[in-house]
Amino acid sequence: MQLLGVSLAALAALVSASPEVLESALVGDDQCDGGEESCVLNALQLKGQKSSAQEMLEAADEEEQEEEEESAWLKDISTKTKNHFKHILAPLQKPIVANYQYLTELEKFVNYTMEKVENATGHVVIWNRKSLLQEDEEEEVETTWGRRRRSFSGKDLPPRARYINKILIYLDKEMEAVWNYNTIVDRKRWGVGNTITSSPYGPHGEHPERWRANGSFPFPLKAPTSPVLNVSNSLVMHLKPEKREYDNKYAQQLAADYASLIANINDASKKGQELRARLYKMDAYADKFIKLPSGVWNKIDANR
Ligand SMILES: *[C@@H]1O[C@H](CO)[C@@H](O)[C@H](O)[C@H]1NC(C)=O
Ligand SMILES: *[C@@H]1O[C@H](CO)[C@@H](O)[C@H](O)[C@H]1NC(C)=O
Ligand SMILES: *[C@@H]1O[C@H](CO)[C@@H](O)[C@H](O)[C@H]1NC(C)=O
Ligand SMILES: *[C@@H]1O[C@H](CO)[C@@H](O)[C@H](O)[C@H]1NC(C)=O
Repeated sequence: MQLLGVSLAALAALVSASPEVLESALVGDDQCDGGEESCVLNALQLKGQKSSAQEMLEAADEEEQEEEEESAWLKDISTKTKNHFKHILAPLQKPIVANYQYLTELEKFVNYTMEKVENATGHVVIWNRKSLLQEDEEEEVETTWGRRRRSFSGKDLPPRARYINKILIYLDKEMEAVWNYNTIVDRKRWGVGNTITSSPYGPHGEHPERWRANGSFPFPLKAPTSPVLNVSNSLVMHLKPEKREYDNKYAQQLAADYASLIANINDASKKGQELRARLYKMDAYADKFIKLPSGVWNKIDANR
């Protein structure tokens, strides 16, 4: 769990170690007991086992045995093409993990804003209660995840194409975890805004003399800092898919899925940067709010 407190140096190491995570996740379909989602998350947080990737990949190669020379349109992809896809997919693990790590920094920041507001009001900020969420906000996020549809289901595929498809599915799942995390951080931001907007008489309400804190909420010691939180640093990624034509039908489909995975990674980084801007805006509202005198009407529309 202390991963959330990692330094950026440790983070860099984590990201560079990540291809192993992908491999171990591929080996370890059956090692994930907590369901697929937690499996992906574990891998993203590097809690997964770092088992020997290479061995597993080689074993998989051997299983395939001889390949046919002629590659007709409907035949499986060649071993060469399979290896090529492995080669272009492996580096994608790194930017996916980086997207996830950006979000942990953003979560620290929204936590900080939330703690300030909780300290001022003496009440927890409610952010994860279904009934409080704006419907349009939820829908927007769901369409973003749903945007990528698998071209075919794995069981219809010949072995080498299926192998590559499996890697793609795994990377897509990781991206789903990234989008989920983005939603969580944004919901926290929204919850803070909701507290501010629904406290028009200031942190202690209309009758400050009757105000009681509902627990102890220490003021955060200092704002988190990180290159991710420095607005001079862009978080936006511009990965480009390779341009290559394939004759084989399965290869064409896999190439299309690969290209849309790259678009998804780029999109997530852009949404991360936009989220960062919204978090700073909310933090400014929070600072304004906690200084307000209580008992005086001073409505701030923080969620507009
Ligand atoms: C944000 O706060 C929550 C609740 O206090 C905590 O569980 C989580 O680890 C924090 N996130 C980060 C990235 O520090
Ligand atoms: C006060 O805190 C308790 C738990 O700590 C919570 O169940 C209750 O809803 C809170 N009351 C208010 C008014 O926020
Ligand atoms: C707000 O923070 C200050 C400093 O940490 C603390 O003394 C105070 O009790 C906190 N207020 C609440 C309501 O917890
Ligand atoms: C933010 O980043 C810019 C450029 O990378 C750097 O010059 C500046 O010192 C950074 N600011 C902080 C507070 O770290």
